[in-house]
This record gives sequence, C-alpha cells and structure tokens, in this order.
Amino acid sequence: MVTAGINYAPSRSGTFDLAAEIAELKRERNAVILAHNYQVPEIQDAADFVGDSLGLSFEAAKTDAEVILFCGVHFMAETAKILNPNKRVVIPDLDAGCSLSESCPPAALAAFLKKNAEKNYYVIAYINCSAGVKALADVICTSGNAEKIVRAAPPERNILFVPDQNLGAWVMERTGRKMDLWRGTCYVHAEFTARSIRRIREQHPGAPLVAHPECVAAVRMLADEVCSTEKMVTFCKDSPAETIIIATEAGMLHRLEREIPGKTFIAAPAEHCACAECRFMKMNTLEKACDALRDLEPEIILPETLRARAELPIRRMLELSR
Ligand code: 13P
Ligand code: SF4
Repeated sequence: MVTAGINYAPSRSGTFDLAAEIAELKRERNAVILAHNYQVPEIQDAADFVGDSLGLSFEAAKTDAEVILFCGVHFMAETAKILNPNKRVVIPDLDAGCSLSESCPPAALAAFLKKNAEKNYYVIAYINCSAGVKALADVICTSGNAEKIVRAAPPERNILFVPDQNLGAWVMERTGRKMDLWRGTCYVHAEFTARSIRRIREQHPGAPLVAHPECVAAVRMLADEVCSTEKMVTFCKDSPAETIIIATEAGMLHRLEREIPGKTFIAAPAEHCACAECRFMKMNTLEKACDALRDLEPEIILPETLRARAELPIRRMLELSR
C-alpha cells in the first residue's frame, strides 16, 4: 500500500542512517529499488537489483511492487514507466539525462523518416533514447541483445539504427548486416581513445581489456571482449586473469569489486581525465534517492498515447530476448 502523508523526520547524519531510512520507506511504500551498474556505490548497495539496461527492463516488467525507485538516467526510468503505466515510477534526479538520448530528438527522427520514406526503414532504437523516439521505432535493443535483435530484423527491410553510431557499427561488424546509422555518441565512451588504452595496457601488461560497445572502433579493436555491462561481470568471473582493465563508466568497478572480491579491476583512463564518469548518472545521490521514496517524486509521467505506442517495440525486444 502506498501510504500518503507519512511524516519522516529528516535524518541526514550519514550513509548508514540514510540506508536505514530507505529500507524503512521501501517497506512503507511497497517499493522496489532498481539501480544501474553506473550508480554510486551507496545506491548500488541499497538497491534490490543492480544491472544493465536489459536486466533492469526485465526486472521492471516483472515487479509487483507498487512503487519503482529507478536509480539510473531518465530514459531508464521512463522505460520502467512505459512497462508499468499503473505504478508510480520515481527517479532521484529528474535532470539525469543522457548524451545519446539527446542526440536524437523525436522531431528530428520523424523528419528524417518522412524525408526518406522511400527507404521504408525498419527502425531499431538503442534503449538510450526518449519515449518519443521509442514510439517511432519498430524494436528496441540494448547493448546486451543488440546482435540478436539485428539478426531477427526482416531481411528484406532497410535498417535505420538510432542513436548510437558506435554500437551500430559494432553490431554491423558482428552480424554482417548493413544498417544506416544515426550519428549519436555517448560523451563518456567517446573519451576512451587508442592512445589512452595503450597507455594503461603498458602499465598492466597481460591484463585483458573489456570495453563497452559504445566505445569507438579503435578502442574496440584493442579489446579482448566487447560487451554490455552485465556481460562484463560474467567475463570477469570466468576469466583466469587476476587483473582486468575495464573501459566503461567507472561506477562499474563497484559492482565488479563487490561480486568478484579476489580480482583487481583497473578503470581505463579517458583522453582528458583519469576516470570516466557519466555526469548524468552521478546526479543521483543516496540522499536524493531517500527523498524520492519519501516524497514519491520526482515522478515519471507520460501521455498515455505516447506510452502505449512506445511500449510495443519494448515488448517486442523482451519477447525476442527470452
Ligand atoms: P548497459 O546496458 O550495457 O548497462 O549500458 C547502458 C549505458 O548507458 C552505457 O553507457
Ligand atoms: Fe548516456 Fe553515456 Fe551516461 Fe550511458 S554513460 S547514460 S550512454 S551519457
């Protein structure tokens, strides 16, 4: 039961108090806390489920909680809302956006599709996009299932892949399927370069490198494994290596260190900073998460026609990913 009007005395003396307050609120609200692998450690530790975009979508689809506190960026919480129109979905910071999502405004995509109507595109949208873009897509994919989704696309159709050109190029390499690519990038992963990767490899000779497919081709080519953040956990567990270099957002290291305590993980440096952090993911704090559970806002709200249209390609993805 969601109980309105509970008056929780603010208690902000430390992570422990906040974690205890969150646990109490979670029970009162009948809430579930879903957190992405890039969230700050204390949020990951307070969450019921920590995972990649695909795992989080499955969790959101199956939860019977009345409230979802989604600790991630806006498009992730929005996806949870699209799948759960009758639940309350709240996010610690409503301004937690994504450079990939911003690179593909729905109006620009709609205009592109209209201008190129003769191509009759089958639109595959990476989940890092707004509900407006999802509503224009035939199917959604994540980094964890992109290859499968592209292989399942109708062979006679032209494919337009939006919005990440690096992920799109990687899937083209893996599948041999030609696609037209929207020119979006993740500003965090674009900062890894062949030079920054070679530098760290010289410091850790023999350590395998795992890179996210949002990295540029020059970085992907140097990697021993290219995969989603969830598959990074499996790769690192299975690898005989004691030290592994990780080329993705630095929050990933907490998940790896927590689940694989015997190994050493090195955050690959970006070109202009020692540590690649997504400023959007880091807008969420434990304090804001606690406030969101207490106040049940900021809430994700969507017009029903948009939500219903955006749900179709997400459901198609979930069906194809089982
Ligand atoms: P994953 O789905 O692999 O977790 O990636 C999400 C993301 O935003 C990568 O930048
Ligand atoms: Fe978006 Fe990049 Fe941040 Fe992921 S790391 S949420 S793709 S800006």
